[in-house]
Amino acid sequence: MNLDQKFNSGSSSFEDAQFESPMNPRYSPEEDEKEASLRPRYLAEFQGQARIKENLLIFIKAARDRGEALDHLFLMGPPGLGKTTLALVVASEMGVDFKPTSAPAIEKPKDLAGILTNLRPGGVLFIDEIHRLKPSIEEMLYIAMEDFELDWVIGQGPAARTVRIPIPPFTLVGATTKAGMVSAPLSSRFGISLRLEYYAPEDLANVLRRSSGILDIAIDEDAIALLAGTSRGTPRIANRLLRRMRDFAQVRGSGKITKEIVHEGLGRLEVDYLGLERLDREILKAIIARFGGGPVGADTLAVSVSESVESLEDYYEPYLIQIGMLARTPRGRVATPAAYKHLGLEPLNENGRLQF
Ligand SMILES: Nc1ncnc2c1ncn2[C@@H]1O[C@H](COP(=O)(O)OP(=O)(O)OP(=O)(O)O)[C@@H](O)[C@H]1O
Ligand SMILES: [Mg+2]
Repeated sequence: MNLDQKFNSGSSSFEDAQFESPMNPRYSPEEDEKEASLRPRYLAEFQGQARIKENLLIFIKAARDRGEALDHLFLMGPPGLGKTTLALVVASEMGVDFKPTSAPAIEKPKDLAGILTNLRPGGVLFIDEIHRLKPSIEEMLYIAMEDFELDWVIGQGPAARTVRIPIPPFTLVGATTKAGMVSAPLSSRFGISLRLEYYAPEDLANVLRRSSGILDIAIDEDAIALLAGTSRGTPRIANRLLRRMRDFAQVRGSGKITKEIVHEGLGRLEVDYLGLERLDREILKAIIARFGGGPVGADTLAVSVSESVESLEDYYEPYLIQIGMLARTPRGRVATPAAYKHLGLEPLNENGRLQF
Protein backbone atom coordinates (compact mmCIF):
# COMPACT_ATOMS: atom_id res chain seq x y z
CA MET A 1 0.00 0.00 0.00
CA ASN A 2 1.53 3.32 -0.93
CA LEU A 3 1.00 6.51 1.00
CA ASP A 4 -1.91 7.74 -1.10
CA GLN A 5 -3.71 4.42 -0.96
CA LYS A 6 -3.17 4.27 2.78
CA PHE A 7 -4.61 7.70 3.36
CA ASN A 8 -7.47 7.15 0.96
CA SER A 9 -8.35 3.60 1.86
CA GLY A 10 -11.51 4.85 3.52
CA SER A 11 -11.16 2.64 6.56
CA SER A 12 -12.85 4.19 9.53
CA SER A 13 -13.09 1.59 12.26
CA PHE A 14 -11.79 2.73 15.64
CA GLU A 15 -8.97 0.18 15.75
CA ASP A 16 -7.77 1.15 12.29
CA ALA A 17 -8.10 4.80 13.14
CA GLN A 18 -5.61 4.34 15.95
CA PHE A 19 -2.92 3.45 13.48
CA GLU A 20 -4.01 5.38 10.42
CA SER A 21 -5.10 8.61 11.95
CA PRO A 22 -2.69 10.86 13.79
CA MET A 23 -5.78 12.64 15.10
CA ASN A 24 -7.00 9.88 17.38
CA PRO A 25 -5.96 11.09 20.83
CA ARG A 26 -5.80 7.62 22.30
CA TYR A 27 -2.48 6.21 23.40
CA SER A 28 -0.96 3.54 21.19
CA PRO A 29 1.78 1.29 22.59
CA GLU A 30 3.75 1.57 19.33
CA GLU A 31 4.31 5.20 20.12
CA ASP A 32 5.64 4.68 23.60
CA GLU A 33 9.29 5.32 22.89
CA LYS A 34 8.59 8.30 20.66
CA GLU A 35 6.40 9.85 23.33
CA ALA A 36 8.90 9.16 26.09
CA SER A 37 11.56 11.31 24.43
CA LEU A 38 9.17 14.26 24.30
CA ARG A 39 7.67 13.87 27.74
CA PRO A 40 8.40 16.82 30.05
CA ARG A 41 10.10 15.87 33.32
CA TYR A 42 9.68 19.06 35.31
CA LEU A 43 6.90 21.60 35.74
CA ALA A 44 8.95 24.26 33.95
CA GLU A 45 8.88 22.13 30.78
CA PHE A 46 5.17 21.33 31.09
CA GLN A 47 3.38 23.76 28.75
CA GLY A 48 0.02 25.40 29.42
CA GLN A 49 -2.39 24.45 32.24
CA ALA A 50 -1.11 27.50 34.11
CA ARG A 51 -3.51 27.32 37.06
CA ILE A 52 -2.85 23.64 37.65
CA LYS A 53 0.91 24.23 37.56
CA GLU A 54 0.77 27.17 39.98
CA ASN A 55 -1.24 25.21 42.52
CA LEU A 56 0.84 22.08 42.17
CA LEU A 57 4.01 24.05 42.69
CA ILE A 58 2.67 25.33 46.01
CA PHE A 59 1.49 21.89 47.18
CA ILE A 60 4.80 20.30 46.17
CA LYS A 61 6.89 22.96 47.88
CA ALA A 62 4.80 22.73 51.06
CA ALA A 63 5.04 18.92 51.18
CA ARG A 64 8.78 19.03 50.51
CA ASP A 65 9.38 21.65 53.20
CA ARG A 66 7.47 19.51 55.69
CA GLY A 67 9.35 16.42 54.55
CA GLU A 68 6.07 14.63 53.88
CA ALA A 69 4.56 12.71 50.98
CA LEU A 70 2.40 14.88 48.73
CA ASP A 71 -1.36 14.44 49.21
CA HIS A 72 -3.00 11.89 46.93
CA LEU A 73 -3.66 13.41 43.54
CA PHE A 74 -6.56 12.69 41.18
CA LEU A 75 -6.09 13.63 37.50
CA MET A 76 -9.03 13.75 35.12
CA GLY A 77 -9.26 14.67 31.47
CA PRO A 78 -9.47 13.44 27.89
CA PRO A 79 -6.71 11.26 26.37
CA GLY A 80 -3.38 12.82 25.44
CA LEU A 81 -3.63 15.95 27.61
CA GLY A 82 -0.77 15.06 29.95
CA LYS A 83 -2.09 13.03 32.90
CA THR A 84 0.70 10.43 32.81
CA THR A 85 3.21 13.21 32.14
CA LEU A 86 2.01 15.21 35.12
CA ALA A 87 2.25 12.19 37.41
CA LEU A 88 5.87 11.74 36.35
CA VAL A 89 6.55 15.46 36.76
CA VAL A 90 5.17 15.34 40.32
CA ALA A 91 7.54 12.49 41.22
CA SER A 92 10.54 14.31 39.68
CA GLU A 93 9.68 17.58 41.42
CA MET A 94 9.26 15.78 44.74
CA GLY A 95 12.50 13.88 44.06
CA VAL A 96 10.88 10.52 44.80
CA ASP A 97 10.38 7.10 43.18
CA PHE A 98 7.84 6.74 40.41
CA LYS A 99 5.98 3.48 40.04
CA PRO A 100 3.50 3.46 37.14
CA THR A 101 0.81 0.82 36.75
CA SER A 102 -2.78 0.63 35.59
CA ALA A 103 -5.94 -0.61 37.28
CA PRO A 104 -6.42 -3.65 35.00
CA ALA A 105 -2.86 -4.78 35.83
CA ILE A 106 -3.65 -5.01 39.56
CA GLU A 107 -5.50 -8.29 39.63
CA LYS A 108 -4.99 -9.55 43.16
CA PRO A 109 -4.54 -7.93 46.59
CA LYS A 110 -1.02 -9.29 46.64
CA ASP A 111 -0.18 -7.34 43.47
CA LEU A 112 -1.06 -4.09 45.20
CA ALA A 113 0.60 -5.14 48.46
CA GLY A 114 3.78 -5.97 46.53
CA ILE A 115 3.93 -2.56 44.95
CA LEU A 116 3.14 -0.62 48.12
CA THR A 117 5.58 -2.46 50.35
CA ASN A 118 8.36 -1.92 47.82
CA LEU A 119 7.93 1.84 47.40
CA ARG A 120 10.46 3.99 49.20
CA PRO A 121 8.87 6.48 51.66
CA GLY A 122 7.15 9.35 49.85
CA GLY A 123 7.16 7.54 46.49
CA VAL A 124 4.53 8.09 43.81
CA LEU A 125 2.28 5.19 42.81
CA PHE A 126 0.60 6.09 39.53
CA ILE A 127 -2.55 4.10 38.73
CA ASP A 128 -3.85 4.79 35.24
CA GLU A 129 -7.47 4.06 34.27
CA ILE A 130 -8.33 4.12 37.96
CA HIS A 131 -12.05 3.80 37.15
CA ARG A 132 -11.33 0.15 36.31
CA LEU A 133 -10.15 -1.03 39.76
CA LYS A 134 -11.69 -4.22 41.10
CA PRO A 135 -13.87 -3.62 44.19
CA SER A 136 -11.62 -5.75 46.42
CA ILE A 137 -8.52 -3.78 45.37
CA GLU A 138 -10.35 -0.51 45.72
CA GLU A 139 -11.27 -1.29 49.32
CA MET A 140 -7.72 -2.23 50.13
CA LEU A 141 -6.61 1.04 48.63
CA TYR A 142 -8.95 3.07 50.87
CA ILE A 143 -7.08 1.95 54.00
CA ALA A 144 -3.70 2.26 52.32
CA MET A 145 -4.48 5.84 51.27
CA GLU A 146 -5.90 6.90 54.61
CA ASP A 147 -3.79 5.11 57.19
CA PHE A 148 -0.77 3.88 55.21
CA GLU A 149 -1.66 0.37 56.31
CA LEU A 150 -2.76 -2.78 54.52
CA ASP A 151 -5.50 -5.12 55.66
CA TRP A 152 -4.00 -8.53 55.21
CA VAL A 153 -5.79 -11.86 55.67
CA ILE A 154 -3.74 -14.66 57.18
CA GLY A 155 -4.84 -18.27 57.26
CA GLN A 156 -7.92 -19.80 55.71
CA GLY A 157 -11.44 -20.79 56.64
CA PRO A 158 -12.59 -20.26 60.23
CA ALA A 159 -9.01 -19.65 61.38
CA ALA A 160 -8.55 -16.73 58.99
CA ARG A 161 -7.90 -13.37 60.58
CA THR A 162 -7.01 -9.92 59.37
CA VAL A 163 -3.90 -8.10 60.42
CA ARG A 164 -2.88 -4.58 59.62
CA ILE A 165 0.55 -4.13 58.11
CA PRO A 166 2.10 -0.66 58.07
CA ILE A 167 3.44 0.54 54.71
CA PRO A 168 5.66 3.52 53.92
CA PRO A 169 3.78 6.78 53.29
CA PHE A 170 3.19 7.26 49.57
CA THR A 171 1.36 9.47 47.12
CA LEU A 172 -1.28 7.84 44.97
CA VAL A 173 -1.73 9.58 41.65
CA GLY A 174 -4.87 8.24 40.01
CA ALA A 175 -5.75 9.14 36.43
CA THR A 176 -8.89 8.63 34.39
CA THR A 177 -10.57 9.79 31.22
CA LYS A 178 -13.90 8.78 32.76
CA ALA A 179 -14.21 10.70 36.03
CA GLY A 180 -17.91 9.86 36.24
CA MET A 181 -17.09 6.19 36.63
CA VAL A 182 -14.91 6.63 39.72
CA SER A 183 -16.76 5.79 42.94
CA ALA A 184 -17.42 8.55 45.47
CA PRO A 185 -15.56 6.78 48.32
CA LEU A 186 -12.45 6.59 46.14
CA SER A 187 -12.56 10.08 44.67
CA SER A 188 -13.20 11.61 48.12
CA ARG A 189 -9.94 10.12 49.39
CA PHE A 190 -7.82 12.23 47.05
CA GLY A 191 -6.65 15.45 48.71
CA ILE A 192 -6.04 17.17 45.37
CA SER A 193 -8.24 16.80 42.27
CA LEU A 194 -7.21 18.37 38.99
CA ARG A 195 -9.07 18.42 35.70
CA LEU A 196 -6.90 18.91 32.61
CA GLU A 197 -8.52 21.03 29.93
CA TYR A 198 -7.96 21.11 26.19
CA TYR A 199 -4.94 23.34 25.43
CA ALA A 200 -5.13 26.77 23.81
CA PRO A 201 -3.37 27.08 20.42
CA GLU A 202 -0.59 29.24 21.99
CA ASP A 203 0.20 26.44 24.44
CA LEU A 204 0.23 23.86 21.66
CA ALA A 205 2.54 26.14 19.68
CA ASN A 206 4.92 25.97 22.66
CA VAL A 207 4.60 22.17 22.75
CA LEU A 208 5.48 22.09 19.05
CA ARG A 209 8.44 24.46 19.49
CA ARG A 210 9.79 22.38 22.34
CA SER A 211 9.30 19.05 20.51
CA SER A 212 10.81 20.29 17.25
CA GLY A 213 13.83 21.44 19.27
CA ILE A 214 14.23 18.04 20.92
CA LEU A 215 13.78 16.15 17.63
CA ASP A 216 15.91 18.64 15.72
CA ILE A 217 13.16 19.40 13.20
CA ALA A 218 13.31 22.62 11.17
CA ILE A 219 9.90 24.28 11.17
CA ASP A 220 8.59 27.75 10.28
CA GLU A 221 6.56 29.81 12.76
CA ASP A 222 3.61 29.91 10.27
CA ALA A 223 3.68 26.15 10.15
CA ILE A 224 3.68 25.95 13.95
CA ALA A 225 0.67 28.25 14.15
CA LEU A 226 -1.24 26.16 11.60
CA LEU A 227 -0.45 22.87 13.33
CA ALA A 228 -1.30 24.28 16.75
CA GLY A 229 -4.78 25.11 15.49
CA THR A 230 -5.35 21.67 14.03
CA SER A 231 -4.17 19.61 16.99
CA ARG A 232 -7.59 19.31 18.69
CA GLY A 233 -6.31 21.00 21.84
CA THR A 234 -4.18 17.91 22.53
CA PRO A 235 -0.37 17.77 22.94
CA ARG A 236 -0.21 14.10 21.89
CA ILE A 237 -1.86 14.99 18.57
CA ALA A 238 0.41 18.03 18.11
CA ASN A 239 3.48 15.80 18.51
CA ARG A 240 2.13 13.19 16.12
CA LEU A 241 1.26 15.76 13.49
CA LEU A 242 4.76 17.19 13.86
CA ARG A 243 6.27 13.78 13.11
CA ARG A 244 3.96 13.26 10.11
CA MET A 245 4.77 16.72 8.73
CA ARG A 246 8.46 15.95 9.13
CA ASP A 247 7.89 12.96 6.79
CA PHE A 248 6.12 15.12 4.24
CA ALA A 249 8.84 17.78 4.47
CA GLN A 250 11.52 15.16 3.97
CA VAL A 251 9.91 13.41 1.00
CA ARG A 252 7.94 16.20 -0.65
CA GLY A 253 9.91 19.29 0.35
CA SER A 254 13.33 20.48 1.37
CA GLY A 255 13.26 18.92 4.83
CA LYS A 256 11.94 22.04 6.54
CA ILE A 257 8.30 22.11 7.63
CA THR A 258 6.76 25.15 5.97
CA LYS A 259 3.18 26.40 5.78
CA GLU A 260 2.92 24.88 2.31
CA ILE A 261 4.07 21.49 3.56
CA VAL A 262 1.50 21.62 6.36
CA HIS A 263 -1.26 22.50 3.89
CA GLU A 264 -0.29 19.62 1.66
CA GLY A 265 0.19 17.20 4.54
CA LEU A 266 -3.11 18.02 6.23
CA GLY A 267 -4.84 17.77 2.85
CA ARG A 268 -3.47 14.28 2.38
CA LEU A 269 -4.57 13.32 5.86
CA GLU A 270 -8.01 14.85 5.11
CA VAL A 271 -7.70 17.03 8.18
CA ASP A 272 -9.18 20.53 7.97
CA TYR A 273 -7.97 23.73 9.61
CA LEU A 274 -9.97 23.03 12.79
CA GLY A 275 -8.44 19.59 13.13
CA LEU A 276 -11.58 17.80 11.93
CA GLU A 277 -11.17 14.56 10.04
CA ARG A 278 -13.39 13.15 7.35
CA LEU A 279 -15.39 11.19 9.90
CA ASP A 280 -16.00 14.26 12.07
CA ARG A 281 -17.45 15.97 9.05
CA GLU A 282 -19.49 12.89 8.15
CA ILE A 283 -20.99 12.83 11.62
CA LEU A 284 -22.04 16.47 11.36
CA LYS A 285 -23.35 15.97 7.81
CA ALA A 286 -25.33 12.91 8.88
CA ILE A 287 -27.03 14.82 11.70
CA ILE A 288 -27.87 17.66 9.35
CA ALA A 289 -28.80 15.83 6.16
CA ARG A 290 -30.35 12.65 7.48
CA PHE A 291 -31.80 13.72 10.80
CA GLY A 292 -32.86 17.29 10.12
CA GLY A 293 -30.12 18.74 12.34
CA GLY A 294 -31.05 16.47 15.26
CA PRO A 295 -31.76 15.46 17.90
CA VAL A 296 -30.63 11.97 17.00
CA GLY A 297 -29.66 9.18 19.38
CA ALA A 298 -26.02 8.11 19.63
CA ASP A 299 -26.76 4.54 18.47
CA THR A 300 -28.60 5.66 15.35
CA LEU A 301 -25.94 8.23 14.57
CA ALA A 302 -23.12 5.71 15.01
CA VAL A 303 -24.80 3.23 12.65
CA SER A 304 -25.39 5.90 10.05
CA VAL A 305 -21.65 6.69 9.85
CA SER A 306 -20.57 3.03 10.30
CA GLU A 307 -18.76 3.69 13.56
CA SER A 308 -18.99 2.13 16.99
CA VAL A 309 -20.90 4.04 19.65
CA GLU A 310 -17.81 3.94 21.87
CA SER A 311 -15.59 5.62 19.34
CA LEU A 312 -18.32 8.15 18.59
CA GLU A 313 -18.76 9.00 22.28
CA ASP A 314 -15.16 8.73 23.47
CA TYR A 315 -13.28 10.19 20.57
CA TYR A 316 -15.27 12.15 18.00
CA GLU A 317 -17.92 13.81 20.13
CA PRO A 318 -15.86 15.40 22.93
CA TYR A 319 -13.92 17.60 20.55
CA LEU A 320 -16.96 18.46 18.40
CA ILE A 321 -18.71 19.50 21.60
CA GLN A 322 -15.65 21.41 22.81
CA ILE A 323 -15.53 23.51 19.63
CA GLY A 324 -19.28 24.09 19.77
CA MET A 325 -20.33 22.14 16.66
CA LEU A 326 -22.32 19.47 18.41
CA ALA A 327 -24.56 19.52 21.47
CA ARG A 328 -25.72 16.62 23.59
CA THR A 329 -29.34 17.01 24.67
CA PRO A 330 -31.50 14.58 26.63
CA ARG A 331 -33.19 13.61 23.34
CA GLY A 332 -30.00 13.15 21.36
CA ARG A 333 -27.26 14.89 19.43
CA VAL A 334 -27.86 18.20 17.71
CA ALA A 335 -25.75 20.04 15.12
CA THR A 336 -25.21 23.66 16.11
CA PRO A 337 -25.21 26.68 13.74
CA ALA A 338 -21.38 26.58 13.90
CA ALA A 339 -21.49 23.10 12.31
CA TYR A 340 -23.63 24.32 9.43
CA LYS A 341 -21.26 27.22 8.94
CA HIS A 342 -18.15 25.05 9.01
CA LEU A 343 -19.62 22.74 6.38
CA GLY A 344 -20.63 25.73 4.27
CA LEU A 345 -24.35 25.10 4.76
CA GLU A 346 -27.33 27.14 5.78
CA PRO A 347 -29.65 25.47 8.28
CA LEU A 348 -32.69 25.94 6.02
CA ASN A 349 -33.22 27.62 2.66
CA GLU A 350 -36.09 29.98 1.90
CA ASN A 351 -38.43 27.05 1.18
CA GLY A 352 -37.80 25.67 4.64
CA ARG A 353 -35.78 22.79 3.23
CA LEU A 354 -32.32 21.68 4.04
CA GLN A 355 -29.72 22.79 1.58
CA PHE A 356 -27.54 19.96 0.38
N1 LIG B 1 1.79 20.10 29.09
C1 LIG B 1 2.54 19.45 28.20
N2 LIG B 1 3.65 20.02 27.69
C2 LIG B 1 4.39 19.38 26.77
N3 LIG B 1 4.12 18.14 26.29
C3 LIG B 1 3.03 17.52 26.77
C4 LIG B 1 2.20 18.13 27.75
N4 LIG B 1 1.20 17.29 28.05
C5 LIG B 1 1.39 16.21 27.29
N5 LIG B 1 2.48 16.33 26.52
C6 LIG B 1 2.96 15.38 25.52
O1 LIG B 1 1.86 14.61 25.09
C7 LIG B 1 2.11 13.23 25.24
C8 LIG B 1 0.86 12.60 25.81
O2 LIG B 1 0.69 12.97 27.16
P1 LIG B 1 0.26 11.91 28.28
O3 LIG B 1 0.69 10.54 27.89
O4 LIG B 1 0.72 12.42 29.58
O5 LIG B 1 -1.32 12.02 28.18
P2 LIG B 1 -2.43 11.28 29.06
O6 LIG B 1 -3.36 12.34 29.55
O7 LIG B 1 -1.78 10.43 30.08
O8 LIG B 1 -3.17 10.39 27.98
P3 LIG B 1 -3.99 9.01 28.20
O9 LIG B 1 -5.36 9.40 28.71
O10 LIG B 1 -4.09 8.43 26.82
O11 LIG B 1 -3.21 8.15 29.14
C9 LIG B 1 3.32 13.11 26.15
O12 LIG B 1 4.19 12.12 25.69
C10 LIG B 1 4.00 14.44 26.08
O13 LIG B 1 5.07 14.39 25.17
MG1 LIG C 1 -1.72 8.37 30.25
